[in-house]
Amino acid sequence: MKTVVVAQYGDPQRYVHCIEAPDIARPGEDEVLFDVLAFPINPADISFCWGRYRLKPELPAVPGAECVGEVVAVGSSVRHISVGDLVINLDRENWTQRRLVKANRIIVLPREIDIAQAAMMRINPPTAHLLLSEVVKLDRGDWIIQNAANSAVGRMIITFAKERGINTVNVVRRDEVREQLLGLGVNVCLTDSEDLASSVKELTNNASIALGIDAVAGSATNRIASCVADGGAVCIYGSVSRESIVLSPAQLVYRGLTFTGFLLGRFLDRKREDDVAAIYQELSRRIMHGLRVDIERVYSIENINEALAHADRVRDGGKILVAPHGVERINLAGATSVP
Ligand SMILES: NC(=O)c1ccc[n+]([C@@H]2O[C@H](COP(=O)([O-])OP(=O)(O)OC[C@H]3O[C@@H](n4cnc5c(N)ncnc54)[C@H](OP(=O)(O)O)[C@@H]3O)[C@@H](O)[C@H]2O)c1
Repeated sequence: MKTVVVAQYGDPQRYVHCIEAPDIARPGEDEVLFDVLAFPINPADISFCWGRYRLKPELPAVPGAECVGEVVAVGSSVRHISVGDLVINLDRENWTQRRLVKANRIIVLPREIDIAQAAMMRINPPTAHLLLSEVVKLDRGDWIIQNAANSAVGRMIITFAKERGINTVNVVRRDEVREQLLGLGVNVCLTDSEDLASSVKELTNNASIALGIDAVAGSATNRIASCVADGGAVCIYGSVSRESIVLSPAQLVYRGLTFTGFLLGRFLDRKREDDVAAIYQELSRRIMHGLRVDIERVYSIENINEALAHADRVRDGGKILVAPHGVERINLAGATSVP
């Protein structure tokens, strides 16, 4: 079977390879064997390849925080999972054609779910949902501000906030995407700048912003913080700028802001298996009712380096997916594929 490996931490174009690995034997009694049908390339996966991610296993290592698959065999004691089921799993090392995981790490999806969308449901949708529900209490009419608003997480935050009647100020890095986000019906969308706080005051009519959500880090954290009302909160959940946070002490000392961080894995580790399953059941339902992330292109696993380079460029069409068994086994719904 084909598997992606990181041979050395550093430039993925040099050190990430698609190799032929031994086929996986039958599952043990509490295990499930599945074909990986699709996986996305997320910013954290690229950081993993560079050796900049929080997890840095010994090499060679298989990357990949999420995927969707189809079960091909189950162990003798596995009761709730059957051959042919569509599944996601809570483990890593998913950039491969076949996975063997413990049954209690598997979540079975409805058979009718859009496979390509299911490949992207494990991390970003729950993150967006939890950023709006776990940091501060938000009621209808409250305001939040987020940067990287055109990201997959950012767009989900817009969707979920709109449903709850929460007003969003959306900060992007490029003028070109402002029109697109305004088309989604956001309250305010503007390009990041040194004048962010005064522009936000003007555009929101001096609204009191309860929560800042930061995925950029670097000096962007301080700019987001400057837009939040005194006593409010800022949650940092990413660092797409690849820079350390720059923060004026005045944000904490004079203005009394609270700074916190969010990591999905940490949140899920504290939850019972049933509660985690319930989160994904609800997200499955949402995907079946039209919740979706745009897909710019789907690559074969052999073209992993091209896929990685594409995922690391500015994109206007959405996520990059890889289909390890070919595009015939996933629903493409409009994305272009590379055989
Ligand atoms: N903490 C957690 O548990 C958790 C969970 C999920 C995701 N995340 C993090 O959330 C972030 C977004 O993930 P995603 O999958 O939604 O990303 P994505 O869809 O791949 O989009 C990446 C976004 O980052 C923006 N960007 C890239 N470089 C930038 C820079 N230097 N300054 C400002 N913006 C920049 C891009 O802007 P353009 O749109 O202009 O190209 C794009 O909107 C990542 O940092 C990811 O690691 C964290």
